[in-house]
Amino acid sequence: MILVVGGAGYIGSHLVKELVENEDVIVLDNLSTGHREAVDSRAIFVEGDLGNEEVLQMIFKSYPIKAVMHFAAYSLVGESVLDPLKYYENNVASTLKLLKVMLNNKVENFIFSSTAAVYGIPAVEIIDEKTAASPINPYGHSKLLIEQMLADFKAAYGLNYVILRYFNAAGAHESAKIGESHHPETHLIPIILQQLLGQREKVSIFGSDYETPDGTCIRDYIHVNDLASAHILALKALLSKEKSAEVYNLGNGQGFSVKEVIETCEKITGLKVHAEIADRRAGDPARLVASAQKIFSELEWRAERDLEQIISDAWRWHQNQLY
Ligand code: UFG
Repeated sequence: MILVVGGAGYIGSHLVKELVENEDVIVLDNLSTGHREAVDSRAIFVEGDLGNEEVLQMIFKSYPIKAVMHFAAYSLVGESVLDPLKYYENNVASTLKLLKVMLNNKVENFIFSSTAAVYGIPAVEIIDEKTAASPINPYGHSKLLIEQMLADFKAAYGLNYVILRYFNAAGAHESAKIGESHHPETHLIPIILQQLLGQREKVSIFGSDYETPDGTCIRDYIHVNDLASAHILALKALLSKEKSAEVYNLGNGQGFSVKEVIETCEKITGLKVHAEIADRRAGDPARLVASAQKIFSELEWRAERDLEQIISDAWRWHQNQLY
């Protein structure tokens, strides 16, 4: 059985839907940002907090857990600057409890959701895993701290792990039954689609004076189901002992500016976005684009869905958002 912590959240719920096809799955989620409706009915669901050692003990004692996948983190850069305690408490202290209880129960396989935010403002155009990790906000720090702990735990206790550094997760399941639903929403693609649905007056483009061809920030958008399939491969590699301490970027390897994303949304929907240039948002690097070559060479994973597919799947979800 696989324990998915944070399996009711945006990325976790998409992973669970794929994982239940081949594994028994138990989800632990406190529903602080996740949605009960998002959890596939074939998974066991436990409502509880990652920081609650009693609940963790109960799960490890009651079920034959062979691996843990950990998605339960706060992930808003701006919020992490304003309230770092929240980020260190949940993303670091609670994760440490999870690791401790895992090791006490001799569960030694761990897949960790990390982020492009560990790279800070990278000095290179295309970021690979050897690019120096140098976060510029508490969110990125909180993720990098766990990455460092995992390496130490591998050396001391034999914990096996795969770290997956996501670039910009986007899109929705092709069924349109699950998708992205954050309150408040801060991510670019859902904000654009909500504007097109009349749920917000306008889209603010945060900065048009970056050193990029059109002056707006460039990101590498990756479909949430491509992220899910990378987790499935990483789990197989861990369980078969093919891999035991790895870090991989997960991205498309192609960057799109904010303006290009808006244009693609207009193309897919046939509607005109009402957008206005606004001030820069604090902490935004001009450009974050992944090299995902390493995971392709080692696990034969590559992103299968392009930006148009991401937006058309997200559009179907947002038109009939179920939660
Ligand atoms: N943007 C706008 N207007 C908006 C919202 C976003 O112009 O209303 C811009 C941002 O400035 C940024 C781009 O659109 O340039 C993408 O912004 P998102 O908020 O969608 O995503 P981020 O790149 O800020 O954040 C993502 C993840 C974080 C992760 C980060 C890594 O959501 O968890 O990538 O840098 F930390």
